[in-house]
Amino acid sequence: MTDPISTRKHGDVLIVLSNNPPVNALSAAVRQGLVDAIDAAEADEAVKAVVIACEGQTFFAGADITEFGKPPVMPWLPMVVDRIETCAKPVVAAIHGTALGGGLEIALGCHYRVAVPDAKLGTPEVKLGLLPGAGGTQRLPRVAGVPKALQMCATGSPIGAKEAFDCGLVDRLVEGDLVPHAVAYAEEVRDTRPLPVSSERQDRIAAADPAMFDEFRKANGRKFRGFDAPEANIRAVKIATEKPFVEGVIEERKLFMELMGGGQARAQQYFFFAERKAAKIEGLAEVVVPRDIRKVGIIGAGTMGGGISINFLSAGIPVTIVEMGQEALDRGAGVIAKNYQASAAKGRFTAEQVEKAMGLLSPTLDFQALADCDLVIEAVYENMDVKKEVFGRLDKIAKPGAVLASNTSYLNVDEIAASTSRPQDVLGLHFFSPANVMKLLEVVRGAQTAPDVLLTAMRLAKKIRKVAVVAGVCHGFIGNRILMPRQVEAMKLLLEGATPSQVDRVHVEFGMPMGPFQMADLAGVDIGWHRDPSRIESLRDALCAIERWGQKKGAGFYDYDEKRRPSPSPVVQDIIEKFAAEKNVERREISDDEIVERTLYPMVNEGAKILEEGMAQRASDIDVVWVYGYGWPVYRGGPMHWADSVGLQTIVDGLKRQQERMQPDFSFSQLLLDKAAKGEKFTR
Ligand code: 3HC
Repeated sequence: MTDPISTRKHGDVLIVLSNNPPVNALSAAVRQGLVDAIDAAEADEAVKAVVIACEGQTFFAGADITEFGKPPVMPWLPMVVDRIETCAKPVVAAIHGTALGGGLEIALGCHYRVAVPDAKLGTPEVKLGLLPGAGGTQRLPRVAGVPKALQMCATGSPIGAKEAFDCGLVDRLVEGDLVPHAVAYAEEVRDTRPLPVSSERQDRIAAADPAMFDEFRKANGRKFRGFDAPEANIRAVKIATEKPFVEGVIEERKLFMELMGGGQARAQQYFFFAERKAAKIEGLAEVVVPRDIRKVGIIGAGTMGGGISINFLSAGIPVTIVEMGQEALDRGAGVIAKNYQASAAKGRFTAEQVEKAMGLLSPTLDFQALADCDLVIEAVYENMDVKKEVFGRLDKIAKPGAVLASNTSYLNVDEIAASTSRPQDVLGLHFFSPANVMKLLEVVRGAQTAPDVLLTAMRLAKKIRKVAVVAGVCHGFIGNRILMPRQVEAMKLLLEGATPSQVDRVHVEFGMPMGPFQMADLAGVDIGWHRDPSRIESLRDALCAIERWGQKKGAGFYDYDEKRRPSPSPVVQDIIEKFAAEKNVERREISDDEIVERTLYPMVNEGAKILEEGMAQRASDIDVVWVYGYGWPVYRGGPMHWADSVGLQTIVDGLKRQQERMQPDFSFSQLLLDKAAKGEKFTR
């Protein structure tokens, strides 16, 4: 392997260049190369200053995450940062792309930082369940100030170079060719002594208000709920304001090692790679070329159609949106405009960006206007006959080679494709509501979907900033299919003696954003209901019959006040008890453990069935769906990773214990049984 670090001289400045694609991760070879280069610079009398820069798309994007969990290889990153900082000659970091994690720590070890305006700087370790562990929590507050460091470390969100310049993290912003500018800067500071050493600075931490930490915790309580790493980051930054640097880094290391040894960091690091793996299509020939998507058509200007449109408009792709009636069309276009205005008010878009995006939208009643679209997404009523009719019409007008997609959440994509003369161009694009916010996109591959159509969808997903997962054709695809057994068991548990708030509490304590009944009330209890109040076959039918359709009616599984605050409903309790009596269900005390075994374990079983049927490419894709689509806590990695961490035999034992009580058509996944028996895991 070639050495990732090279050096060259420009006058009396030594330029140290890293070339470690794709993101210049700080692998052992890079770390060693940096130390060697600094040693060489110090030893060479002709060198007066050093510039550290990177080739390729980015400055160092952090420690090499693939090395985590393996035996450490010297030199450690903290030693490398210390070595740079103690260099007797000025060292300048030349930052482009993203200086993240260990990469930012390297930059903090440098005496000066120069950046291009579109560079980003951040400490995303918290998203991997960690904290900046190479002195970052101690140096960053000393350079950027405590509030900024707190924000960056505990949330993991990067800041732009301009903001970094304003807070003192970047010393100079330079336009154009970065390295020559950095060299010029190095020449300017070559004789400056003493050198500014980040770890020795006191000016930015001296007046830190200790109350800010509790205020920050309080303001972010909801966001941080269940996570270990944000609190560790807060504590580490606070230590920087209380203790000398040398003591601070010892404490930082202790906290880092505690996090690294925990299950949350393992799960979050696993998930980092799971998310990236999801984009890869198994067995795709290298010669496959994606189709060009320059214009998108959307059929249906309802909530889904509108939300889907926003994704493309924001990515600069023109959208033609079609409706049947003027009123519905105006309403749809109005909702899109309002959405942009609200985002602009929150500072997410500038007025010009909003104007540009809205300028790309063409609302029309003319179906024929879809004729020149490269991709058409149908987002009409969830009914097979309606969808077939739409696709039949579309088939007659869409241009050859156009990709035809359905936003169905359950229906058979092959049946929809069969209503066209070009099933190879058809696939499912299942967006999650609200479609402009939720990151997940299930890309449903039909039996005849052409490889280039699938690839087109996966590439496009990245362009509109979605995380796409390939799913096969089955009822509910990956996400909703796994949801079903959970909802069925949750409902059964109510009849057997649990309350909606108990079931929901167990799920929220597990880390879900809400429980099954809170979710049903939010989405609408009446979704998919047969709409016949006299036909009462389930608890849900009973609620729907008296218009307890959820939050929108002020009543569902819970009662709601005018501020939509829920409280347990005596009416619902009464219905549950009556229904249980009618069905001869014996009521008893239900334990929280049983709720976990009855509602979460069947999800793992369903996930295993999805895998054995080939409906998901890999177990980690199922985890990506559940984390991004349904808010499964990322610190538990997703249902399949979680099952692995609990132990598959434990899941099987729990299901066996509960089997008699579960819905009669419950059956075990053979894959789950086999893996449990062999002591294997779904994920690595
Ligand atoms: N280590 C190892 N591999 C990495 C990596 C890292 N830090 N960062 C990215 N990669 C890999 C990805 O897995 C991917 O591999 P693949 O092509 O085989 O799937 C490849 O690099 C490209 O990554 P992306 O697909 O994410 O590329 P993007 O261009 O979309 O994004 C990025 C680039 C913004 C740099 C993004 O990759 C990123 O956010 N990386 C992680 C940054 C991070 O978390 N750094 C902190 C590491 S922990 C640390 O530094 C600890 C220290 O404090 C001690």
